[in-house]
Amino acid sequence: MTTNGSLNRKLRMALCGGGQGSFIGRVHATAAVLDNRAVLVAGALSSNAEKSKASAPDYDIPVARAYGSIHELVEKELALPADQRIDFVSVATPNHTHFEIAKTAAEAGFNVICDKPMTFDLKQAEELAEVVKKSGVVFAVTHNYTGYPLVRQARQMIASGELGEINAIRAFYIQGWLRTRLELSDQKQAAWRTDPKKSGIAGCFGDIATHAYNLARYMTGLLPETISCHLKTFEEGRALDDYGTAIVKFENGALGTVTASQISHGRENDMWIEIDGTKGSLVWRQEEPNAMVVRANGQPHKIYTRDPNAPHMNDMGRAACRLPSGHPEAFFEAFANIYRAAYDAMILRAEGKPFETKDTVYPNIHDGVEGMYFIEQCVASSQQGGSFLPIKHPLARK
Ligand SMILES: NC(=O)c1ccc[n+]([C@@H]2O[C@H](COP(=O)([O-])OP(=O)(O)OC[C@H]3O[C@@H](n4cnc5c(N)ncnc54)[C@H](O)[C@@H]3O)[C@@H](O)[C@H]2O)c1
Repeated sequence: MTTNGSLNRKLRMALCGGGQGSFIGRVHATAAVLDNRAVLVAGALSSNAEKSKASAPDYDIPVARAYGSIHELVEKELALPADQRIDFVSVATPNHTHFEIAKTAAEAGFNVICDKPMTFDLKQAEELAEVVKKSGVVFAVTHNYTGYPLVRQARQMIASGELGEINAIRAFYIQGWLRTRLELSDQKQAAWRTDPKKSGIAGCFGDIATHAYNLARYMTGLLPETISCHLKTFEEGRALDDYGTAIVKFENGALGTVTASQISHGRENDMWIEIDGTKGSLVWRQEEPNAMVVRANGQPHKIYTRDPNAPHMNDMGRAACRLPSGHPEAFFEAFANIYRAAYDAMILRAEGKPFETKDTVYPNIHDGVEGMYFIEQCVASSQQGGSFLPIKHPLARK
């Protein structure tokens, strides 16, 4: 098969963020090309034009296409012949910049892959959803944990009723790196994440609880109804929460909890989820992502390994694998699965064909809006002593 089917060429990518010393931009750049379906040709790698140009060789981006802002990027890329121009923009910058970058790119007709939380606040997210609808671009949000093969396997198992009716969900994202006031040192990632002007109204809950909540929604497909939350700031002087727990009541009567921490000694990226159904339960852990434990009373515990050739794997799980079992797949591959699914939609769009925008394999603009609603309602509930507030957004998908 030719690269990208009838398009018969690689998709051209621009990266925003990812400048020297940054974290997730490099992951985007790597994941985007893992399947040889895209090439990184341009970027606004930093908000500073000189730094953007200095970082360009690290990605083999020609210096002439390393821009100082999204506005320069859009203007100069639109001026290029169509066979050189970018197809999509990836947004890997701090939260307060996502909206302007994503909106500018979408309004110019470029597809967008945006990191989470999608925007700075809910109002921006809802406005961005309008822009995306109007422009007709493909929009994915890198809630990358939904890209793990066993997460997709679980989604299909739950949708097909293998676990029965879902009664309970416990989602966690536990870290320890902000146990001290790291933000007072030179650590850039800690500095903006704990700054309400850059991170948003939540710290830990905006940064990582959103991933855990999204995972619960994605795996179960259950629609939420109300939420109660308590947020805490344990490091004295820190402006945003560094710990919290939310209780989510789902429409079907299920009860969920989301707990996130940045202050738990020695914990790295310990995100895990436990789901209890009337016929069985499962546990999946991102630090050991190639195995999932499925249990039923009176039966031996089953360990589902990520094995594309094994009969226990379903279509969704199998389709998300690249390697034979036993060769660990992890963060990059899961991230690349978000890109892979978004590329399929980009190709349909390039061919002028309709493509799904709501019930997508990849997290989309609707999930991005839901993430911002989650943050807003958690903060509001916490400020009200944990009152239950509505949590089902009109744009929520099943
Ligand atoms: N999906 C995930 O697993 C995951 C993991 C880490 C971070 N993130 C998200 O990715 C984003 C970036 O996080 P990070 O840890 O990589 O941050 P970082 O501080 O390491 O990197 C941010 C980069 O963006 C650049 N930048 C800042 N403003 C810019 C602008 N206006 N235009 C262009 N570049 C600009 C900075 O110079 C830097 O190179 C955040 O929204 C974060 O929440 C997601």
